[in-house]
Amino acid sequence: MDTPLIDLSTNKFKDVAVITINNPPVNALSPTVARGLAEAMEQADKDEGVSAIVLTGAGRTFVAGADIKEFGKITSGKSERGAGLNPLLRQIEDLSKPVVVAIHGNAFGGGLELAMACHYRVAAPNAQVGQPEVKLGIIPGAGGTQRLPRLVGVAKAVEMCAEGNPISAQEALQLGLVDRLIEGDLLTGAVAFAREVTTRPIPRTRERDGKLNLPDKTIFDAAREKARTKQRGQMAPLAAIDAVEGSTRLSFEEGSQQEQRVFRECLFSDQSKALIHAFFGEREVAKIPEIAKETPIIPVNSVAVVGAGTMGGGIAMVFANAGIHVLLKEADQAALDRGLATIQKNYQSSVKRGRFTQQFVDECLRRIKPTLTYDAFGEVDMVVEAVFEGMALKKEVFTQLDLVCQPGAILATNTSTLSIDEIASATSRPDAVIGTHFFSPANVMRLLEVVRGKSSSKQVIATCMQLSKKLGKVGVLVGNCRGFVGNRMFGPYRREAQFLAEEGAAIEAVDRVLYDFGMAMGPMATGDLAGLDVGWRIRKEYRHLEKPGVRQPFAEDRLCELGRFGQKTGAGWYKYDENRHATPDPEVAALVRKWAAEAEIPQRTISTDEIVDRCIYALVNEGARILEEGIALRAVDIDIIYLHGYGFPAYRGGPMWYANTVGLKKVYERICELCDRHGELWAPAPLLKQLADAGKTFADFGVDQAVTA
Ligand code: 3HC
Ligand code: NAI
Repeated sequence: MDTPLIDLSTNKFKDVAVITINNPPVNALSPTVARGLAEAMEQADKDEGVSAIVLTGAGRTFVAGADIKEFGKITSGKSERGAGLNPLLRQIEDLSKPVVVAIHGNAFGGGLELAMACHYRVAAPNAQVGQPEVKLGIIPGAGGTQRLPRLVGVAKAVEMCAEGNPISAQEALQLGLVDRLIEGDLLTGAVAFAREVTTRPIPRTRERDGKLNLPDKTIFDAAREKARTKQRGQMAPLAAIDAVEGSTRLSFEEGSQQEQRVFRECLFSDQSKALIHAFFGEREVAKIPEIAKETPIIPVNSVAVVGAGTMGGGIAMVFANAGIHVLLKEADQAALDRGLATIQKNYQSSVKRGRFTQQFVDECLRRIKPTLTYDAFGEVDMVVEAVFEGMALKKEVFTQLDLVCQPGAILATNTSTLSIDEIASATSRPDAVIGTHFFSPANVMRLLEVVRGKSSSKQVIATCMQLSKKLGKVGVLVGNCRGFVGNRMFGPYRREAQFLAEEGAAIEAVDRVLYDFGMAMGPMATGDLAGLDVGWRIRKEYRHLEKPGVRQPFAEDRLCELGRFGQKTGAGWYKYDENRHATPDPEVAALVRKWAAEAEIPQRTISTDEIVDRCIYALVNEGARILEEGIALRAVDIDIIYLHGYGFPAYRGGPMWYANTVGLKKVYERICELCDRHGELWAPAPLLKQLADAGKTFADFGVDQAVTA
C-alpha cells in the first residue's frame, strides 16, 4: 500500500497527535495534501484524548511551498485555484487545541505560511525559512504578506517578501518567527514543547496587533528603490512591497483580499510564467533521457587543473570551495606565482564582502597545491585543462595527460571554441575526454556547459553533470561544435549589435536598449569586459571559412587594430578610468561614422524595436539551428544557458521562451523581413519555419532528440 500523503501513524505520543505531511520529494502542498491535512487536523482536534497537535514533514524537508506545478494548470485554465491554501490555514489557526509545527530542512513559501498559521513554531538548528515567491514572479499567496509582518515586524517582512531570500532558524528565533530551536530529535522536542503549551491561551497570528502601526514610511520607499535596481524590470517584488504595505493600512481580512488580487495578477503575468519555466528548466537540464539514472558515477575526490590563468585559477577555487583537493599546474614559476596571488586576492575580497569566512578561505587555500610538473597527476580522479586557446598546445597537454593519468580518470578541457574530438584524438582514451566549459569569472558564474565529444562515455558525462551540482553550478549538456551553444549564439547577437552601430545607431543606444530589455549588460559593454581581442583573434583564425560577398562587421576588428581591446587597455567601445568606469568616447563614434562612409553603408535613424529584434532574434534563429542539429537537447537547455551564462533576464525565460511568448509566426515573419533587407545571414532556420507554420512553440520540439557530438 502507498504511504498516505498525510500520515497519522507516528501518533505514538498519546496525548499529542502527530500529523506528518508525506509528499516526496519536498512535501509540496498540492490540493490533495491540503485536503488531507484539513481532515487530519479536524480529526485530531475532535479527539478527546488529544491535548495538542504537532505538524511535521517526512523526509528531507518540512514543506517547500505550494505545488508549483499547479500554477501552470491554473493559468492554462485546466484547474481553478479558488481561495488556495487560505481556508486550510484559517481552519488550523481556529482549532481549539494548540498546533506546534516542527520545521526541519525548509519552510518556504506556502510552507512558511502554513507554519505561521500554526500556533507555535519549533525548528531544527539548521532549518531555513523564507518567502521565495518573487523568484517565481509571484507574491506570497496564503497570507504571508499579512502574517509575516505581524510576527517579524514590517521592515523584515518587506525584505523577506520582496527579495525572497531565506533566513536561518537562528535568525528566525531572534525575530520571534520561531519559538524554540530543538537540538537533538526534533519530534521529541516538539512533542515536549507541545505539552508545555497546552494550558496557555492559544496565540493566533492573524489576531496580533489588528491593523499594524504605520512604520517609518521610508521603509517602503527604500524597498521600492532597492527593488528597482537589484531586481530591475521585475513586477513581483514591487507587488510584494505593496501587499506588505497593505498590512499597515488594512485589517487582516482586507489585507488578505488585496494579497489575493495581487497574487492572481502576478500569477497570470508573462513574467511569472517565464520564471516558473526557469525554475523547472534548471532542474530539467540535469535529466538526460539517454543516460539512465543508475549510470555509475566516477568518484571525484581530487582534481588537477592545468593552467593558473584567468580560468584555471577560478576553476581551482570552484573545486576547493566544494571541498575537493586541487593540484594546480603552471608552465613556469612566475605564472604560478601570479595565478596563486590572484586566487588569494579573490578570496580576500570574498571575505571582505562577507561571502566567506577567513576560516573557510584558509581551508580552501590549503586544498590547492601548486606544482610545475605532472608528477602527482597519477593520483587524481579528474583533470581540467585551462591553458591558452590553441589546438597544438591543447593536444600536447592531452598527450601528456594520457601518459600520466590513472585509467578511469576524467580528462576535461575548458576550451571555448576548439573541437573536443580533435583534442581527444591526442589520447588513447577518447571516451574519458569531455569539455567542461566554465564561464568567466569561473568562481562566480553559475553556468557550466558540459560538452560531449563523439566518444565521451556515458559514465563520464553522468559524472560531470552530477559534479556540476556539487560545484554549485548549473550543468547543461551540449554537443561539440564551434562555440558550443552559448558562444555560437552570442556571435550573431554581437554581430548584429555591431551592424547596428555601423548603420548609424549610437553605441550607447544599442547598449541602453538591450539593458532596458533586461540584459545584464549591453553587447558593446560586454565585449569591452571580456576583451575585444578574444573575438578578434578567433575571427582571424576562422576568416578563411567566411563566405565571400557576405557582409561581416568590421568596427570591432578596427578598434582592436588601434589597440582598443576594451577594459583591459582602458579603451574599447568606451573609454575607461582607473576604476574601469565607462564613458562614451566621441572619438569612437567619429571613427565608426568614417569607416561606415568608406564602406558606403547608408546611415539612418534606428528604432528601439529594431535594435531589440535584430539582436534578440539573432539569438533565437541561431538557437533554432542548434536545436535542430541536436547540439542542445531541448529549447529549455538553451534558455538556461542564456539565463546563467549570458545575463539574459530570467523574467523573460530565455531567448527561446521569449520567442514562444512573442509567437513563432511573428518571429519568423520578422526574420524573413530582415533576410530580405540584410541578406543570407538572416536566412530563417528551417525549424523555426516548420514550428511557425504548424502553430507550435520551441517547447513542442522533440525531447527525444539526442545531443550529438
Ligand atoms: N512544488 C512542486 N515541485 C517542487 C517544489 C514545489 N514547491 N519545490 C521543489 N519541487 C520539485 C523540483 O522540481 C524537483 O523535482 P524533480 O526531482 O522532478 O526535478 C524536486 O522537487 C526536488 O527539488 P530540488 O531539485 O530543487 O531539490 P533541492 O533539495 O536542491 O532543493 C528546495 C529543495 C530548496 C526546496 C528547492 O526545491 C526550492 O527552492 N523549491 C521551491 C521553493 C519555492 O519557491 N516555494 C514557493 C512556492 S510558491 C508558493 O508557495 C505560493 C504560496 O505563497 C501560496
Ligand atoms: P590565460 O591566458 O589567462 O591562462 C592560460 C594559462 O595557461 C597561462 O597562465 C599559461 O601560463 C598557462 N599554460 C600554458 N601552457 C601551459 C602548460 N603546458 N602547463 C601549465 N600551464 C600552462 O587564459 P584563460 O583566459 O584562462 O583561458 C584558458 C582556457 O579557457 C582557454 O582555452 C580559453 O579559451 C578558455 N576560456 C576562457 C574564458 C575567458 O573568459 N577567459 C571563458 C571560457 C573559456
